Amino acid sequence: MDTEDTSKLPTHIAIIMDGNGRWAQARGQERREGHRAGVEALRRIVKDSSDLGVHHLTVFSFSTENWGRPRNEVSFLMSLLERYIESDLADLHAEGVRVRVIGRRDGLSDKICRLIDRAESLTANNNRLFLQIAFNYGGREELADAAARLARRAANGTLDPESINGDVLSAELLTAGMPNPDLIIRTSGESRLSNFMLWQGAYSELYFTDVLWPDFTREHMQAAIAHYAERERRFGLISASGDAD
Ligand code: FPP
Repeated sequence: MDTEDTSKLPTHIAIIMDGNGRWAQARGQERREGHRAGVEALRRIVKDSSDLGVHHLTVFSFSTENWGRPRNEVSFLMSLLERYIESDLADLHAEGVRVRVIGRRDGLSDKICRLIDRAESLTANNNRLFLQIAFNYGGREELADAAARLARRAANGTLDPESINGDVLSAELLTAGMPNPDLIIRTSGESRLSNFMLWQGAYSELYFTDVLWPDFTREHMQAAIAHYAERERRFGLISASGDAD
């Protein structure tokens, strides 16, 4: 399927960027070199997404579970986000990219929080590509936090509990205003969601590839988009041929 058939182009692609450590180990390098190469792959894919006509991109770059990694790896990943925003923000803004960082703020340094705020406010009106960076993110935590906020509003009388439905919950999530991902890609041969976009990914097409994240290129992205274009999404209904979901 030609990826230029824009009717079959996913509006929102979400990526679990996995395999940095194995990429480095295969080269006899330290894991941090894999993460560094992972940032380079991210830079390329942000640009490729815009060029390919994808309007929303979410990337998983630090999970709530990643705090359990060795301290020096955790602080290296923190510094990577810091440096990525510091070095790339002006270019992202010039290229019309809107940046949003989703995840819990607790545990992040004041400096990172300030950089995130600056990136989000500077780029708030851009509309070529909406880039969501999931950092200190966990799908269950996102849902639990949203439920707690709704419960507090119900308890203080500003929200009628009977009015709570899927739309109300969606609007309370960190991804509010962003369409659900049409396609979720995971690199490095693992076939799990690992607490990523659990609510938003309910009907996403899943695409797993053995390619390690630092090796992921525009061609791999096009292959994933072509796979998506061949799928028929039924959202629990039946297909034109009468097959049930
Ligand atoms: C998974 O690989 C990757 C991560 C936990 C971090 C992903 C981070 C990047 C791609 C770069 C960071 C980008 C920003 C903007 C901060 P892994 O370490 O689990 O690899 P392994 O499974 O081979 O060990």
